[in-house]
Amino acid sequence: MIPTLSAHGATIPSIGFGTSQLGDCADEVATALKLGYRHIDTAWKYGSEQGVGDGIKKSGVARKDIFLTTKVSHEYLRAADFARSVEESLTRLQTDYVDLLLVHWPTIDNIPLEETMGALAKARQQGKTRFVGVANFNIALLDEAMRLCPEQFSVLQAEYHPYLDQSKMLAHCREKGLIFMAYCPLARGGVFKDPVLGEIAKKRGKTIAQIALRWLLQQEIVAPIPRSANPQHMAESLDVFDFMLDTDEMKRIHALKRADGRIANPKGRAPAWD
Ligand SMILES: NC(=O)c1ccc[n+]([C@@H]2O[C@H](COP(=O)([O-])OP(=O)(O)OC[C@H]3O[C@@H](n4cnc5c(N)ncnc54)[C@H](OP(=O)(O)O)[C@@H]3O)[C@@H](O)[C@H]2O)c1
Repeated sequence: MIPTLSAHGATIPSIGFGTSQLGDCADEVATALKLGYRHIDTAWKYGSEQGVGDGIKKSGVARKDIFLTTKVSHEYLRAADFARSVEESLTRLQTDYVDLLLVHWPTIDNIPLEETMGALAKARQQGKTRFVGVANFNIALLDEAMRLCPEQFSVLQAEYHPYLDQSKMLAHCREKGLIFMAYCPLARGGVFKDPVLGEIAKKRGKTIAQIALRWLLQQEIVAPIPRSANPQHMAESLDVFDFMLDTDEMKRIHALKRADGRIANPKGRAPAWD
């Protein structure tokens, strides 16, 4: 059993399974679920929703035992487009509801945030999602979104790994009682040659991936969602609950942050980061 995190009524597995770039991922999702993953992260934009739906069916794991997240892309933030995107996602996922619905990126078209937040709240009120939140918002936008949304947020999803300083957003999420869902937790593979992580991994008898994930998990409100197409890696990433990094190891990993550590920073779409 994977330990869980709680926020405003939502109980979420502390490690999830990412599906961007996996395409038709039915086999990978079925394998992940059989290995014990219970949170699957997808998005309209990834083109992985059909595979996720197929994989859930294939796994034999009951839908009610799975925490399923999808996202509405920035092109669909007008209320009517938003509702249509949610319907399309549910059709591909072969389910009546998701557990978490996120706005994938803030608008680039000056669509009033109030309209988008109304559409997000409506999706929850209509039972299309159990919980709501946003991804890739900065602190000011997150606060404005929460003020305008009639439904309580449970999650902020954002990039987070040892090379990125997210201390300001983390403190803010703590204050607001939100779970910080960490995407690119392995810096898309960027962590694997790191000498500091390598040294700690050797000392602990763990892999670098396990050290990077453990560092995120020990920040208490952080839920990483690594992606893998390799069953051995999937299993390894789940096997991170039998050891603790000490204060010195945590500090050494925190010190790996870099000014240019951000990976997902699309030009013209990314907000001014905190
Ligand atoms: N909201 C957003 O805007 C946003 C943006 C980006 C990502 N995300 C979500 O976050 C998820 C994760 O981020 P990501 O896919 O960009 O990158 P990631 O999880 O940081 O890195 C994935 C890479 O790590 C490797 N890997 C995974 N587990 C491993 C292990 N235990 N040992 C060794 N290698 C391992 C994978 O290779 P193998 O396949 O060989 O294992 C893959 O090359 C995405 O899939 C998506 O669901 C959200």
